[in-house]
Amino acid sequence: MKTRKKISLIGAGNIGGELAALCARKELGDVVLFDIPSRAGVAKGKALDLEQNGAILGYDAKISGTGDWADCAGSDVLIITAGIPRKPGQSRDDLVATNLPIIRDVADNAKKHCPEAFVIVISNPLDAMVYEFMRKTGFDSKKVVGMAGVLDSARFSLFLAREANASVKDVRAMVLGGHGDDMVPILSACTINGVPASQLIGKEALDAIIKRTRGGGGEIVQLMGTSAYYAPASSAVAMAESYLLDQKRLLPCAAYLTGEYGYNDMYMGVPVVIGAGGVEKILQLELTEDEKAMLAKSAKSVQSVVDVVKKAV
Ligand code: APR
Repeated sequence: MKTRKKISLIGAGNIGGELAALCARKELGDVVLFDIPSRAGVAKGKALDLEQNGAILGYDAKISGTGDWADCAGSDVLIITAGIPRKPGQSRDDLVATNLPIIRDVADNAKKHCPEAFVIVISNPLDAMVYEFMRKTGFDSKKVVGMAGVLDSARFSLFLAREANASVKDVRAMVLGGHGDDMVPILSACTINGVPASQLIGKEALDAIIKRTRGGGGEIVQLMGTSAYYAPASSAVAMAESYLLDQKRLLPCAAYLTGEYGYNDMYMGVPVVIGAGGVEKILQLELTEDEKAMLAKSAKSVQSVVDVVKKAV
């Protein structure tokens, strides 16, 4: 009888390595770090390093590296970071030509080897990549989500906490829409321990925080020459954990929309309940007219990248 869960990480780069470290520390299950054959050594090396780390930190997890999809067979969760990250000056959408064939390759293999898995896509441009993964595999959309909103909301939370001189632990923030410069911060859902953030922070400062949140990924790319990996990995692990432990957390995720918020046949960031059933519910919040307009703008940006993907069949 299989008792331990199996988590396969497709892409053993910066985010993949951090994902493996987090899954192991949390003892979510056994971890397989997969990369293309020419990078299988990196995957195997990181896996061995992390298994040795377990002897110090005291976690029980089998961590293996591989360049063979067959080793991912029977995965309960797949987290996909395959692709290239941004370089300074690039937008996420600039990655579409490079990452599209990669996500298609990953989709074909996932369909063959991991048809039962709950899938979290991180590769950018996120909303288009997760759409393409779902389209190409034909997997149930309840089992395919994109990671963006948890990360964008974390960035928003941090900046709010700093401005209000509050603990980041007390901040609840929600960012919806596409994972791009038009993402939509939902101020009505932002509180500092229940107190609306707008009561504690002035409009000018709030506007500056929203601007910084929208460019939050780019700010890090500019500093490091590549994209962030600690917070992206933690965000995806929060989603994976909610699925594996049936926590039913309410998290902003890129989910497949069939009429919610007035959008159809697209992935975009919305509040989602994640439990053992995958995407168990998409919550429809009452948005202000302003928020609706921002969401429409964001949806338009997402759709334009998805159109590129659809044309490239
Ligand atoms: N199958 C599996 N892995 C692949 C494939 C493929 N077809 N093609 C590339 N990869 C691997 C690369 O070999 C590399 O090891 O994906 C890994 C990506 O790792 P990094 O370059 O370190 O990138 P990372 O920072 O982890 O970001 C990955 O997530 O947030 C997004 O924009 C980011 O699209 C990027 C992705």
